[in-house]
Amino acid sequence: MASIFTNPKFYATTPATSISASGPSNPTIPHHSLLHFSPKPSSHPPPFPNASARKAAVSCSQQHQTPPITATYPTPKRRPEYIPNRISDPSYVRIFDTTLRDGEQSPGASLTSKEKLDIARQLSKLGVDIIEAGFPASSKDDFEAVKAIAKEVGNAVDKDGYVPVICGLSRCNEKDIRTAWEAVKYAKRPRIHTFIATSAIHMEYKLRKTKTEVIEIARSMVKFARSLGCEDVEFSPEDAGRSDREFLYEILGEVIRAGATTLNIPDTVGITVPSEFGKLIADIKSNTPGIENVIISTHCQNDLGLSTANTVAGACAGARQLEVTINGIGERAGNASLEEVVMTLKCHGEVLFGGLYTGINPRHIYITSKMVEEYTGMHVQPHKAIVGANAFAHESGIHQDGMLKHKGTYEIIAPEDIGFERSNEAGIVLGKLSGRHALKKRLEELGYELDNEQLEGIFWRFKAVADQKKRVTDADLRALVSDEVFQPAVVWKLQDLQVTCGTLGLSTATVKLVDANGREHVGCSVGTGPVDSAYKAVDLIVKEPVTLLEYSLTAVTEGIDAIATTRVLIRGDNSRTTTHAHTGEAVHRTFSGIGAGMDIVVSSVKAYVGALNKMLGFKEKSQVNDAAERTAISA
Ligand code: KIV
Repeated sequence: MASIFTNPKFYATTPATSISASGPSNPTIPHHSLLHFSPKPSSHPPPFPNASARKAAVSCSQQHQTPPITATYPTPKRRPEYIPNRISDPSYVRIFDTTLRDGEQSPGASLTSKEKLDIARQLSKLGVDIIEAGFPASSKDDFEAVKAIAKEVGNAVDKDGYVPVICGLSRCNEKDIRTAWEAVKYAKRPRIHTFIATSAIHMEYKLRKTKTEVIEIARSMVKFARSLGCEDVEFSPEDAGRSDREFLYEILGEVIRAGATTLNIPDTVGITVPSEFGKLIADIKSNTPGIENVIISTHCQNDLGLSTANTVAGACAGARQLEVTINGIGERAGNASLEEVVMTLKCHGEVLFGGLYTGINPRHIYITSKMVEEYTGMHVQPHKAIVGANAFAHESGIHQDGMLKHKGTYEIIAPEDIGFERSNEAGIVLGKLSGRHALKKRLEELGYELDNEQLEGIFWRFKAVADQKKRVTDADLRALVSDEVFQPAVVWKLQDLQVTCGTLGLSTATVKLVDANGREHVGCSVGTGPVDSAYKAVDLIVKEPVTLLEYSLTAVTEGIDAIATTRVLIRGDNSRTTTHAHTGEAVHRTFSGIGAGMDIVVSSVKAYVGALNKMLGFKEKSQVNDAAERTAISA
């Protein structure tokens, strides 16, 4: 099965609705449309938002209009044909997604090859222009994952000719670059992204190299990447935000001459503010020799919470590739988030930013966010813009009153625009009499496309919940899907569990697990509480020393009969390492697991067994790879 996610037909690069400006008092005019100020098409959008147009945007959604406006949307713009160093439409902005590379560098976000492939398929549905699929030299797992993505997703050309570029990261050395090329070369549009630090502090303390040496390495390595046959080479001067401007112009000019096609400008430590970052891009655009022959890109980290603002400022100043991640995950405080950047351009691109647009289909945003959240175990904070659980929740009486009268009063984006179905509007209430058909339909409306086996699994879980709850909500269904579908390959499966706990004695747990060959194993243990004793019983069976780093339990709905979702993060004491892209250090992988159920101990054990399965999946694969490599070496 390709993916569990459906493919909404809506294609949302549609520019904003055009209506004449009129005040909210006129009842015939929907008062939260994006008022059209007929900006002149411009090949040079204004460097910064046009303040006088700012008041024009009262809502970004086409869904909230009453009466609906049907006839005034201009034809959706087509994505320009992909040419590495040029974009035929100066208003088109490429979206480069680095969830699978920088995002996976988030502590705890290890992804298996299968999970990476699922996410890459989903990113392709979303319409990202470039998928940075990983850092192939960091580990064999990453190499294999990037290669698998290049082979499958990098060749899945759609009817409009769209296929994402598949990119692999490499440091500026021949071994990394060759390894990246070996992984991405199977894609129809392969790209190598190579980087070296250019700030004084990095050159002195990390690289211990002079400016002249750094220029020479960058120049020769870009040339080397091109010499392998790669026609699409991106270069990043790491820590550009703190680099000397004149030095940047010089090194960037040199790599352009050596064959770089995209110049990415990272604010690696997230220190800049929007006006400063916009000026950095504008200065590079004005002063770098040969810059008109390449694409300028942004890569903004979120250490000051300014990554989205900086990215948008970069686009306004002339960057035409924006590097982002789903849910903003990434190193430390993360990266600019795809959903925030894309929806900002969608809301304001036409009026404030001189017509900037992307090829992203926002109707896939919510489901992609969910997938990344579940697979990485990186929980999305409830008040996260666009995709947080509260992004479309209205709690206060005044707001609820306004929403009932007109949704545009408190919502600038309709949830449906990003593919989030509001549960109380669907009209279907699922309960114990609901059948497979109703369940399937609701799951499809929520964006999940399940095969028959998955649907059957969910159906029986749903029945069990419905027996105990009058009404099964969308939140319950999402929790069940996460528990049933977003699971790693099964090595161990929880069969039965019995715990006793309370104040009269030690908690004890008996756990029955089934192994991959169908054999049953029973373990018993005491512990400080029911979860502790159950985890110890699991450890007695699985016999893999691990450290539990994080444990959290959340009730997905209100009430005593709520489903509880448990998330855990473990680190195997003997587990595999991966090479960190920036520091070159070996980093221990950590593994997340998720479980859901009405019994909190069962939910907790499922999450723990899920995390163990993920870790064991990595281990087994790595052993296979090690053996393959030994055979290749001895042959
Ligand atoms: O933050 C950074 O500098 C990077 C580069 C490799 C683009 O991740």
